Amino acid sequence: MKLLEDMILEKGKVIDDNILKVNSFINHQVDSKLMKEIGLEFSNYFKNRGITRVFTIESSGIAPAVMTSYELDVPLVILKKQISSTLDDDIYQTKIKSFTKNITYNLTISKDYINSNDRILIIDDFLANGEASKGAIKIIENAGATVVGIGIVIEKSFQNGRNYLDNLGYDVYSLARIKSLKNGKIEFLD
Ligand code: G4P
Repeated sequence: MKLLEDMILEKGKVIDDNILKVNSFINHQVDSKLMKEIGLEFSNYFKNRGITRVFTIESSGIAPAVMTSYELDVPLVILKKQISSTLDDDIYQTKIKSFTKNITYNLTISKDYINSNDRILIIDDFLANGEASKGAIKIIENAGATVVGIGIVIEKSFQNGRNYLDNLGYDVYSLARIKSLKNGKIEFLD
């Protein structure tokens, strides 16, 4: 997606060979117009597949996911990292290990917002090692529902996540695919 790639080149900051900071338009401050275009792009790609719900993982996936769910005219469900006091015992839960942040956390969803007839599109801001997607897939499939596809805003193609999800046969659509961040230079896949 050219608009996104241009913004990454203009405003993204390479922290090291592995990490791209996009705090000024995705992770901290959010560019709503960009999110609207992202929602349109994902909904154009994934439309006509009978999607019943969009899923994302809090927090930075929420902005692109809400615009996608709006365009697809289906609800957005946010997988929680923190157990809130308003979540009762009727939950699905799975453990996730984040290699980037070197932490482990639980992903939780109330059983009220998923059922076996659901056809679900997962949206997230970054794909690195695929651990977050793996956790979301596990929760969805444990509930008997179907993962229709995975929409990623920024894929770091030099890490393992993309290959892992491709090998399992999921349809992964990434709007920007980063080949390398070496020597402070952002390079996209052709
Ligand atoms: P994975 O799911 O693909 O395995 O990713 P990983 O666990 O390694 O990433 C954990 C967190 O780090 C995620 O955010 C992910 O979006 C973020 N992340 C990974 N690589 C980058 C990067 O190059 N730049 C930025 N800005 N973030 C990256 P999170 O913990 O879920 O936090 P949140 O921002 O969604 O709240």
